[in-house]
Amino acid sequence: MIQALRGMKDIIDDGDLYQYIVKICEEITLNFGYKFIETPKLEQTSLFIRSVGESSDIVNKEMYQFIDKGGNDVCLRPEGTAGVVRAFIEHKFDRAGGVRKYFYYGSMFRYERPQKGRLREFHQFGIECFGEKSVYEDASVIIIGAEILNRLGIKTTLKINSLGDKECMPKYKAKLVEYLNSLDGLCQDCLRRIDTNPIRVLDCKNENCQNLLKNAPLITENLNDECQKDFDKLKEILTNNNIKFEVDPKLVRGLDYYSKTAFEFISDEIGSQSAVLGGGRYDNLVEYLGGRQTYAVGFAMGIERIMEILKSRTQSDERKGIYLCALDDKFIDEIYKLGLNLRKTHNVETNYEAKNPAKHLKSADNLNKKIFLCLGENEFKNNEIWYKNLDNGDDEKLNLNDLERFLNAR
Ligand code: HAM
Repeated sequence: MIQALRGMKDIIDDGDLYQYIVKICEEITLNFGYKFIETPKLEQTSLFIRSVGESSDIVNKEMYQFIDKGGNDVCLRPEGTAGVVRAFIEHKFDRAGGVRKYFYYGSMFRYERPQKGRLREFHQFGIECFGEKSVYEDASVIIIGAEILNRLGIKTTLKINSLGDKECMPKYKAKLVEYLNSLDGLCQDCLRRIDTNPIRVLDCKNENCQNLLKNAPLITENLNDECQKDFDKLKEILTNNNIKFEVDPKLVRGLDYYSKTAFEFISDEIGSQSAVLGGGRYDNLVEYLGGRQTYAVGFAMGIERIMEILKSRTQSDERKGIYLCALDDKFIDEIYKLGLNLRKTHNVETNYEAKNPAKHLKSADNLNKKIFLCLGENEFKNNEIWYKNLDNGDDEKLNLNDLERFLNAR
């Protein structure tokens, strides 16, 4: 039997939940002036190497990279930002100036070891705002994330950090490398990272490494005046707007393009301390990918991680929609037509098989329908339909001419 690939899942029973999550995200981001963007899932490999970064785990270990039939080195997108930036530059919006805001959702691909909350094909909802330098925009992006998680009822801890800029980050890195080189006993991964991406060492999950790193210099103590001012302002805006946060100077994120603000919303409902939403500012990426310098900030949320949390809660057994059926084959045409009509405003499941009332009622119950409508000989003669409310047991014959008005009032 052919099965889906490891780490790749069908969204088959949870389609409603997926759509519900996207709908909430869309509603909120549209109000903040974001517009839908869709970019290809397959891009040139060099796009991700340049943006996500050569030293990142994603590029090093997790890329779905291959040579296509035309000999091009291509890659399934591991994240959404790079493609949106590529499109932004390709359509010359970097030259047009002004502020542009985009949201997207869809599949991302990372060849990771599949486990709870970690898939090889997963879905993100993301936003990217271009052309806004003000730290108020960083705050807005974080507030959008908080608002989405709040509306979805997901409890999280928000962690924020500043990763400095082109001026203070290299100075800090040099200081950190000096410190790291003075340590004895770091793990192999950390030793490799000292040369490739020293700030990722801070992120190491190894307990022994974390002990050794206790006195490491922190970026938050090495920011230049501008970065410090922005970071202080960000904390002030969040505080003034009742967004709780923790400063985590070791929060570095797994992608190399960030500068200044970096943040993650962490949940402990899917394994230990997983990020459900993460992002930050990336003021150098547009230029780095060949465009004009453009300020940028955004985030992405892992939809499966949210689904996982919502599914682990007690499922709502709220009944919804109408079950429409007939007791005799000769009425199927009638109910078919009625069903098409009712569907203009209602969710209707029409059953095409004539069965006895008990069987129909059982099917309606299995489908968790709220309203049962059934046409039999007597009802047909009187231009009526049998109505039963499966929630409260109300049971009556309704005149077909009054049916819509009656249902609309329910
Ligand atoms: P990221 O932190 O790599 O950031 O991913 C964002 C979210 O995607 C994570 O917080 C997590 O919820 C989800 N995620 C990541 N990997 C997996 C996986 N293997 N399985 C399931 N869910 C996963 C980015 O991708 C950046 N592009 C975010 C961004 C946008 N920064 C600025 N703009």
